[in-house]
Amino acid sequence: MWKDNYKIGVNLIDEQHKELFRRVWEFTRIIRSSENWENRIEQVKKTMDFMKDYVIIHFNDEEAYQEEINYPDIELHKQAHAKFREGINQYVELFENEGFTEEKIQEFGGKLMTWLIVHVGKMDQQIGEYVRSQGGQANES
Ligand SMILES: [Fe+2]
Repeated sequence: MWKDNYKIGVNLIDEQHKELFRRVWEFTRIIRSSENWENRIEQVKKTMDFMKDYVIIHFNDEEAYQEEINYPDIELHKQAHAKFREGINQYVELFENEGFTEEKIQEFGGKLMTWLIVHVGKMDQQIGEYVRSQGGQANES
């Protein structure tokens, strides 16, 4: 779930993070609801398709912003994004090969939420801190 203290002070990125949290939260809500699995699976697929693409757009925008401000830890950050993407792709592949089993989707939902909280809550915060340490207001960029 989104919290205002996840904000890094850059509007575009904060809005994208909010949307990611909203979708992952929605995903978690669907997979945990008591609705029968056949009904949930369609929504699960839709949300997953959206997220796959949105994560890539977001990472690209965030990396472009880091380039723009000459962020010193950009390489480390790119590696973290690559790992995140790889994690998602592994699940996408698994679902393609083995179908959407409830157990694996629950596991995926849990991991997605954890990744998001850890990454946005820690690593992305350092971008905002860097901008402020340079005497800038992140939102002016
Ligand atoms: Fe990031």
